[in-house]
Amino acid sequence: MGIVALLVGMMAYMSLHWASMPPSRIETIDPATLHIAGEFVEANLGSGVEPNGSVTVRVVGNRYSFTPQCLLVPTDTPVTFRATSADVVHGFNIAKTNVNVMLVPGYIATFKTKFKEPADLEMPCHEFCGVGHATMWAHVKVVDKAEFEKQAGGKRRVSCVK
Ligand code: CUA
Repeated sequence: MGIVALLVGMMAYMSLHWASMPPSRIETIDPATLHIAGEFVEANLGSGVEPNGSVTVRVVGNRYSFTPQCLLVPTDTPVTFRATSADVVHGFNIAKTNVNVMLVPGYIATFKTKFKEPADLEMPCHEFCGVGHATMWAHVKVVDKAEFEKQAGGKRRVSCVK
């Protein structure tokens, strides 16, 4: 009983502490036509500023990379990630943050968060997806809000891919 209570307590603490959340709704998409039309065409990937000042970041995972390979996000701004997979199940996890979702082909994963301070973060695929799984990485660059505005100014989408 004590062990069960301890484990339940740990789950409750971690879910509150990390602001984990269950999926709130379901959005579907055809993984076979991602690159041809719709929200996840290549020109639409990366970070874009919404009319209300929040930022939406669109990402596609496929064996064995993420597109874009480097995500640029601002501090102190509501950020919504919208991501999906073009082939098999991948993991979308930004180290040292609460961003942690599965990318399941056919579904759009969304996650809202805010970054407190500038940082260079790693984004490993954390779901085994095949022989190249261990090499499937991307990077997240959190920059000061003013710096982000400078880089994003006038552009529809930005990333930190060199
Ligand atoms: Cu993609 Cu592991």
